[in-house]
Amino acid sequence: MGPKGLEIIGNDAYLNGYKLESLVKQYTTPLYVMDEKSIRSAIEDYQTYFKGNYFKSSIIYASKAFLVPKLVEIINEYHLYMDAVSIGDLYVALQSNFPPQDLVFHGNNKSFEELNFAIDNKIGLIVVDNYHELQQLIAICEAKKTTQNILFRLNPGINAHTHKYIQTAKYTSKFGESMYDEKIIDKIMNTIKASTCMHLKGFHAHIGSQIHEFGAFRAEINKMVKFQEKISTKYQYDLPILNLGGGFGIQYEHHEKNMSIKDMMMHISQRLDEVLKENNKIKEIMIEPGRSIVGPAGITLYTCSQIKKTYGGTNYLFVDGGMTDNIRPALYNATYECDIVNKMQEKKDILVDVVGKCCESGDIIRKNVYVPHIDNGDIMMVYATGAYNYSMSSNYNNLLKPAVILVGEEITVMSKKEQLSDLLRLFK
Ligand SMILES: Cc1ncc(COP(=O)(O)O)c(C=O)c1O
Repeated sequence: MGPKGLEIIGNDAYLNGYKLESLVKQYTTPLYVMDEKSIRSAIEDYQTYFKGNYFKSSIIYASKAFLVPKLVEIINEYHLYMDAVSIGDLYVALQSNFPPQDLVFHGNNKSFEELNFAIDNKIGLIVVDNYHELQQLIAICEAKKTTQNILFRLNPGINAHTHKYIQTAKYTSKFGESMYDEKIIDKIMNTIKASTCMHLKGFHAHIGSQIHEFGAFRAEINKMVKFQEKISTKYQYDLPILNLGGGFGIQYEHHEKNMSIKDMMMHISQRLDEVLKENNKIKEIMIEPGRSIVGPAGITLYTCSQIKKTYGGTNYLFVDGGMTDNIRPALYNATYECDIVNKMQEKKDILVDVVGKCCESGDIIRKNVYVPHIDNGDIMMVYATGAYNYSMSSNYNNLLKPAVILVGEEITVMSKKEQLSDLLRLFK
């Protein structure tokens, strides 16, 4: 467990040679720490193992997992594409010098302003979510006398989350149009064919998150390839790109069975080769990993204050952050592992719930975990917090957002720690 650069020497944890306890002296807690080695090796694994003989592979980094200018720089260094789901994401990406033609714009309810912004900034690919949005986009492109490459988002009726996947018959996702709704598909295809400004390149699907089972992706590949082939033939329309979305799982808990990027990508590439060997219409496959690129790279460091023993028997270990820097346990019962960075070899024999300082009983970092004897000032490290932690952070209770540092050979501040004056910046 832990990022690639983590090393334990005696009782202390180090990241790429930096003692974690010393880092907090300089940067204070809570502190998000990203391991550069882990991020780069995840990207390199995708580039090495997502490859086949019968398709061009394209990797889109799903920026909702973690988006700051320094990361944009790294993504661009590897010539990945990157997604965005709001005008804010697009703005941050463009201001960080990411090439607009390599951006993929997602979202189930893009506003008129957002679509205009995307067109004006020549965003490479827009993933249209629904028929209403298609009409809006056509109107904007006609008014501006321009054309746009698009994918259309479909709901393939596969709902894969955590260790299970079910092929649901309900098709009630808020994202995309159902591939089984023949009427809407017919309307979409006829509208696109009648328009001179929409260039439909293919379809998109995203079947869930934290998926550890290849079977879910196999089902998605089978369904999507078949469907895209059928539509291409029926409407005599060239559809060279298929986007399979993201959702590749990572290890959060010690006992969690996790497929490596290498194994998952080898399975997926092999299946794609099998089905695309007989299909000369789909030339390019896109995937959209987010969590698996940045999640394992991250740890969050907190200062522990005390263990509060309650009359009812629960022991609470208080740390100086909470749901403001990690909302995932409160949002969907996510579980994280933790250690005390200055007591790595000490016996863990005290059962606690690790909780934050927010005014919510659900402000939990980790329930039911054994820790060693805690002294005020001990530093806790929570693993695998690189994805959907910083990007979902908030200022609830006017807590200040922590700094994010990137630790490689050198240390780079990816995002500064908020100051008290930042809390008033919108009120002046
Ligand atoms: C459309 C789409 N693509 C990609 C992703 C990234 O998923 P993950 O971070 O689980 O790889 C998401 C996440 O919600 C998504 O909605």
